[in-house]
Order: sequence, then structure tokens, then C-alpha cells
Amino acid sequence: MTDKRDVYGPIHGRPSFRDHIDRGVFPEHGIDPDEAYELLHTGLMLDGRETLNLASFVTTWMEPQAEKLIHDTIRKNHIDHEEYPAASLVEEAAVHMLGDLFHAPDNAKVVGVATIGSSEAIMLGLLAHKRTWRNRRAAAGLPTDRPNVVFGAETHVVWDKFANYFDVEMRKIPMKKDRFVISADDVEPLVDENTIAVGAVLGTTHVGESDPIEEINDLLVRIKKEKGWDVPLHVDGASGAFIAPFAEPDFRFDFRLEQVASINASGHKYGLVYPGVGWLIFRDSTKLPEDLVFSVNYLGGAQPTFTFNFSRGSAMIQAQLYNFLRLGRSGYTAIVETMLANARFLNESLVASGKFEILNPGLAEPVVTFTLKGDPGFDVYHLSSRLREDGWIVPAYSLPPDAEETHLLRVVVRLDLSRLMIEQLLKDLFLAYEGLAAEQPTHKQARKPDVWTSPAHAAAKSKARTGLAK
Ligand SMILES: Cc1ncc(COP(=O)(O)O)c(C=O)c1O
Repeated sequence: MTDKRDVYGPIHGRPSFRDHIDRGVFPEHGIDPDEAYELLHTGLMLDGRETLNLASFVTTWMEPQAEKLIHDTIRKNHIDHEEYPAASLVEEAAVHMLGDLFHAPDNAKVVGVATIGSSEAIMLGLLAHKRTWRNRRAAAGLPTDRPNVVFGAETHVVWDKFANYFDVEMRKIPMKKDRFVISADDVEPLVDENTIAVGAVLGTTHVGESDPIEEINDLLVRIKKEKGWDVPLHVDGASGAFIAPFAEPDFRFDFRLEQVASINASGHKYGLVYPGVGWLIFRDSTKLPEDLVFSVNYLGGAQPTFTFNFSRGSAMIQAQLYNFLRLGRSGYTAIVETMLANARFLNESLVASGKFEILNPGLAEPVVTFTLKGDPGFDVYHLSSRLREDGWIVPAYSLPPDAEETHLLRVVVRLDLSRLMIEQLLKDLFLAYEGLAAEQPTHKQARKPDVWTSPAHAAAKSKARTGLAK
């Protein structure tokens, strides 16, 4: 047990700062709260700085008033609708505001749900499409044992997860060496009467481009006419669905397109909220089969639920509505235009240097992906590692098959990355480039990528540091 003296002594002289803490054993006794705080707070300093983490799409800055609201609502369990009706009305308002933003033909009929992020939203959306397909086939006396889902390798691993977890055949279109999005021609031969949905991405994970959503929609409209298969299109707008409506309001990716049945968006990415909120929006209630919606009454009232988790925090949902009210279309537009201008500046500076090649010149979102031109004697993994020494976290990775020979760097421009900081990033990047060019590490080493900076090494290091299997 903690010695009584220790509670009054300086924190940094207490046993918890000196003794080995066995992370595999549940602690027998507690410690003073200031001590617990300081111990964990100092430990967090090993992490990178959030604003310099250019690997992540997830929001790292919100206004102090939003943070106050988050703090005000941190104790509320969002599922307790009866006890916290005001809090749950906020979710409904946000769903309909998004229905409006995404041009639902009849916003009164829009249904949707706040999720933990886009991953949950995508899985729930695809589950709804699977159930609709199954119900329709069962009613017609047709087999229901071979559902499939069609999407491209350019999207997020959650699509593979859905297929795996929910026993749906994955018809995944590989990347091409020089083309990192899918086309309607790729999709057409894969669609059949057992296709529960086709996925198209607005803001691809690996490269930051957009699939040709309208072209894929038109294909599905034609298939419906010619073959009678009503295949829904799910738009994965994890990052792009909070960019396109403000950057390019006339760009048709949403419910203006006939086959778009559902859209997901990450509130915690360009919805500009801290981690823990995503959105799934259905064109109308017919796209969400009633037999997937559960109703519970033991918290008082009748509560429909369509989420994987029951309890969840309310704070980030409140914070989302804060942003909608605080920023409105004009505020989001100002921020989105600034982020795109900064991304464009970074993009153009990299091209002007003659050292890099940009993979997504179209900038479907404020993300810059680039490779090294020629063979400068080092690779993107060296560059990523060198930038880390200056505090910048810029991930290096390879693309999925069949474009796995492309090794790239990705910078996600978020609202807290100013032009001033991008100029500094460029300076550091060019300095790192020159240093590595002088050292020629790939020519000196037998292996490529460098074993000390490769993704495999990073995973092993992370495992060794945390003691957790990744
Ligand atoms: C296209 C796409 N879909 C889905 C996801 C998963 O989103 P979340 O992290 O909100 O679960 C991501 C994450 O980066 C993404 O880029």
C-alpha cells in the first residue's frame, strides 16, 4: 500500500516514479490522483505532437467554446434518449442537416445515425444493403446464400473487414500501376443479381483522389433498366463528403444521383470534430430495413437503435452540431478553401523543386501524395524517418496491388496547418532531401527499404514498446 508520507511528498519522489510497474498485473492499491495524472501525462510526451501528425485526417484543433461544450456533455451517455432528450435531438438535427447538405430528394424521409467513425458507418450501411437484398430475394423465393460486394483497392480496410466479418464475397478491383481509382468499366463485369452494393470513394485513403461516382451511378442505373437489378451505391465520403459540398457545390456525388442509397462521412475528419464521431445517412427510410432497427424500453420510452455499440459518449455529437451552427456553409467553405489553398501551395512547391512527382494533382481533398523522382540514392522511408527528427510525422507507404511498386509520402493538410508551417515543412523536407542525397543510404545498404525505417520495423518497434500485439 502507498506509504501515507508519499501523499504529501513531492510527486517525483514517490514510489510510482521509481518502482517498476508491472503492466501485466492489475494494481492492488491505488495512488494519489495527482500522481496518477503526472505519471500518465509525462508518459504521453513520448507521442508525436498532434498538429504535426500529418499522417492523420482526424481533427486536432477545435475552438475553446466547442471544448467547453464537450466538457459539459462528457458525462452523458448518448443512448439514454429518455433521460437526455435534448442531447439526442442534436443527433437528429445533424442527420437532417447532412441530408440537406447531400441533396436528399425529400429530407423529411432521410434517416441516419451518429457512429463512432466512418468504419462503423460503412459496416452498418452495407449491412442494411445486405439485408434489403436478402429480404427481396427471399420474398421472390430466390437463393440468398451468395451475396457479394464490389469496391476498389483504393479504399479503406474497413470494406475488407465488412466482407470478412459479415460473410459477403469481396469483389475487390485491384489498382493499376498508373491508375489509382476504379472505373465503371472495372465495376460492370463484377455486378450480378447477388451484388448487395457497390462502393465508390470520395477522397481515397491511399492517394486522395475520387472514384468516378457519377459514372458508376450511371452504370448502375443502366443495369437496373436492362437487367432489373437494383444495386445500391454506397459513397464512402469519410473525408471527401465534408470537402466537396463546400469546395465544389455542383459536384454530383450525393443523393442527386439516383442509385446513391447511403453516404458515410467522418465527423472527426473534415467535419472538424475531435475523434469519436461519424455519420451514416440513408437517402430515405426505405433503404434501412425495419428488421435491423431494435427498440428497447428499459431506459423509459421506446428507443430505436441501429448501431453496433449501445452506450457511447454524447460529447462529440454535440460538438458536431456546434460546428454546423457556428460555421454554417460559409464557415466550412472558408476553412475548406484555406486547406485546399495550402495543399495546392505544397503541391506546387514540390513540383517546382523538380525532385518529386505528385500522385493526386486534382486534389479531391486537401491531401498531397507524392513520390521521389528518379533514384536519388534514398527512398521515401528514409525521408519520412528524417522528417521525424524535426517533429513532422509524414507517413511513407506502398500502394496496394497491382500498384505496390509505388512508394509514396502523404501529407494531410488540416485546418491547424498554416501556410507558415507548410513553408517550414518544405524547408525541412528539402534539407532532409539534400542530406540524404549526400549520404546515399540505399546505395550503401543491401536492403531496400532501409530495415530501420521500413513499415515492418516500425510495427516490430511498436510491439516491443507497448508489449501489445498489433
Ligand atoms: C476512405 C475511408 N473510408 C473509411 C475510413 C475509416 O474512417 P474512420 O477512421 O472514421 O473509421 C477512412 C479513414 O481514413 C477512409 O479514408
